[in-house]
Amino acid sequence: MIPVLRTVEEWRRFRDAIEPGQTLGFVPTMGGLHRGHSALARRSIAENDVTVASVFLNRTQFNKASDFETYPANFEQDLALLEELGVDAVFAPEYESMYPDSYRYRVTESDLSRSMEGESRPGHFDGVLTVVLKLLVLAGATRAYFGEKDFQQLQLVKGMAEAFFLPVEIVACPTVRSEDGLALSSRNRRLSPTARQKAAAFPKILNTADSAKEARAALEEAGFVVEYVVDQEGRRFGAVSLEGVRLIDNWALSVLEKA
Ligand code: PAF
Repeated sequence: MIPVLRTVEEWRRFRDAIEPGQTLGFVPTMGGLHRGHSALARRSIAENDVTVASVFLNRTQFNKASDFETYPANFEQDLALLEELGVDAVFAPEYESMYPDSYRYRVTESDLSRSMEGESRPGHFDGVLTVVLKLLVLAGATRAYFGEKDFQQLQLVKGMAEAFFLPVEIVACPTVRSEDGLALSSRNRRLSPTARQKAAAFPKILNTADSAKEARAALEEAGFVVEYVVDQEGRRFGAVSLEGVRLIDNWALSVLEKA
């Protein structure tokens, strides 16, 4: 059975038993695992001697209680998948273990975090950066793996690791997509079959429109509620919702297809 470490003390005992000189790969997750997470874990296993994943549904990064409450978590299923992949241990703490300070102390970035996801979800990136800092400090990992689907998160985590001299390599992993192009996300499970079919138009439109303005218009025409479409620093970012389920995605502008 894969070890499940429930407290910071249990985690530290596991960490201390890792041989000096062995590399440690860390895969932070909130559970609700899918093939995107499997790709992160596989890469970590290939690149490190030991791989640990965390499963922690981080309440502080949800600006809406309903979003937190409906997050599609299934711990037993997640554990079975991580074990099958060959992950060596799972850190799955309770809220109190991660926030002994009741979130009095937090990390705030004051530039990039204010736009796009940060503008749509006030407080979101404070919650993300704070928990990631805690996890990275505890993990003491050689490398930590993050998906490019959450590109703004990835940039902010990289920036934080540099700003605080964290001795960890942040590894960016390509977005994993379904056959129809929709980026995998735990939230996709909340889409009805009809909305799921319709959702495939989101990455296509984002990827084929000539400008952010045209992408917005085409997405609205296709029935999406558009939060933002922004071309920034060589990438196009978008956030939309369907039946109240938020979808985000991004593409490098250099690979945008012409319709
Ligand atoms: O990307 C996620 O799943 C979360 O934001 C993370 C990095 C695990 C922090 O809670």
